[in-house]
Amino acid sequence: MCGIVAAVAQRNVQEILLEGLKRLEYRGYDSAGMTVFNDGVLTRHRALGKVAALTAQLDKAALPGFSGIAHTRWATHGKPSEANAHPHHSSDQVAVVHNGIIENYEAIKESLQRSGYAFSSETDTEVIAHLLSEKLADGLSLFDATQQIVNGLGGAYALGVMCAQEPGVVVGARQGSPLVVGVGINEAFLASDPLALLPVTDRFIYLEEGDLVELREQGAIRIVDRHGNDVERPIHTFEHGDGAASKGDYRHYMLKEIFEQPTVIEAALEGRLSAQSVLIESFGPDALALFQRTRHMHIIACGTSYHAGLVARYWLERYAGVPVQVEVASEYRYRHPVVPEGTLFVTLSQSGETADTLAALRFAKTLNYVGSLAICNVPGSSLVRESDMSLMTRAGPEIGVASTKAFTTQLVALMLLTLSVSKAKNQVEYLDIIAALRTLPEVCQRVLALDSQIEILSQAFAEKHHALFLGRGAHYPIALEGALKLKEISYIHAEAYPAGELKHGPLALVDSEMPVISVAPNDDLLEKLKSNLQEVRARGGKLFVFADESVGIDVQEDIRVLTLPHVHEALAPLLYTLPLQLLSYHVAVLKGTDVDQPRNLAKSVTVE
Ligand code: G6P
Repeated sequence: MCGIVAAVAQRNVQEILLEGLKRLEYRGYDSAGMTVFNDGVLTRHRALGKVAALTAQLDKAALPGFSGIAHTRWATHGKPSEANAHPHHSSDQVAVVHNGIIENYEAIKESLQRSGYAFSSETDTEVIAHLLSEKLADGLSLFDATQQIVNGLGGAYALGVMCAQEPGVVVGARQGSPLVVGVGINEAFLASDPLALLPVTDRFIYLEEGDLVELREQGAIRIVDRHGNDVERPIHTFEHGDGAASKGDYRHYMLKEIFEQPTVIEAALEGRLSAQSVLIESFGPDALALFQRTRHMHIIACGTSYHAGLVARYWLERYAGVPVQVEVASEYRYRHPVVPEGTLFVTLSQSGETADTLAALRFAKTLNYVGSLAICNVPGSSLVRESDMSLMTRAGPEIGVASTKAFTTQLVALMLLTLSVSKAKNQVEYLDIIAALRTLPEVCQRVLALDSQIEILSQAFAEKHHALFLGRGAHYPIALEGALKLKEISYIHAEAYPAGELKHGPLALVDSEMPVISVAPNDDLLEKLKSNLQEVRARGGKLFVFADESVGIDVQEDIRVLTLPHVHEALAPLLYTLPLQLLSYHVAVLKGTDVDQPRNLAKSVTVE
């Protein structure tokens, strides 16, 4: 998704902006650009493709200056091209970068065209540049002009704007898309994500919806809220350190993040379990009372987070006795959901900024839920701020677009939720699960040690065009997640089915060219799963089975088995995720795809 970086500094900002853009690459994008106030004029460079292409341009013609705005674009309106890349200018007087979608841009564009403005791009963003130009011509300051025009913009936006008349000023605005202010020493910055600015500051202000901010020379920062009142927002210190934003010795962020899982699972558990019990207060002071009143749950999320929700349904129904409905946010927000009395609304999101999930929460607040809980990885995010309760997953920044550690820590958080609701409502503590949770980081470590064996397995996939993933019970969502990982980074078409559904259709696809991947923990569905696997073998399918060490599936020519350490049945979905992540990773490396930034995808989807 689009990324914004802006700076008003005491030094040349070109390098700060370029480094910021590189750090936002993980969000997914197709072009990049930068405008700097340079030698009395707004000077712009834009390039199709990676930030490296923009860097190459700037190597030939540097853009020195003390203030500037920069952008990575993920195409929504208009194809990826240099002309559609940001910043967008209005007659070299105004420059704009934008993340989000201006839904009413067509009407605004027609009106501007009637007033004589010529458009040089197909984007929705360009209207903002011309609207500002109109206001500036009326004699308004950049800040006042921005304040006036945002009222007429429908949809979602984070903006960074500058104008030739006010050299040391950058104005930002936030409505529906994330924007943070970086507080430097006599310098100030804007970005879509704090990670972009970690080389220059670790102090951030998270803007609220409707906020407008003005950065001026000497680090002056003025924030005005949606009602036009000057406000002070708290400054937060970024806690994760800059190391989280580097690959270290790993070839890709995704691999680093896969191997971080034992550590972050431990972090997700820290302080949330006592010797014999789960600590319900981890969810906040009101959690006990709210969980006692909870009779149903609606879990809403997108992508990988949605798969975590599907696993949680099995857990919450079995261990806490609470009926659960799980749905993707983009569907939920446009339905007319019936909310039974005593329903808790739960959102899952790595970023806390996913537009559909956020809109679903806002919609849910108009309905009769008993409360809202966000399970999220970003403390200052919109989802967390707008929910009644929250639990942080503590995965640390995740850079690879394909989510790995964010998913497993969500599962840990959801198991803590299950145990907490069970304790609050039924006075039942699952001591065996609590004990198993404590050993989970070590068991995960043992699974990650199988990496070289999984790498060998991956060779069987590199030439394939399709793959089928099977699982039963809580491992059906794990099969879905395994298929999603393979699709996302290796571009191999993959589908997942509950193994029992095989005979109702997908079996027709099975032949010797179809690899079938199955997860087979030792649970009460094992014997049924084994029968399903025989159905595949009988049709000549090639089976790849990740199985519990006690399961006893014989290795034969058409079955390759990788044995995993035994883990408590309840936690098996967490453990079986790991080999599927590694499998996708190695297949993608063999195929030579862009593992960390797969084509067409974005890390944080802040548009609908
Ligand atoms: C994008 C990402 C996925 C992620 C999904 C939901 O599609 O590429 O990895 O699962 O958004 O994001 P969230 O931040 O809400 O978990």
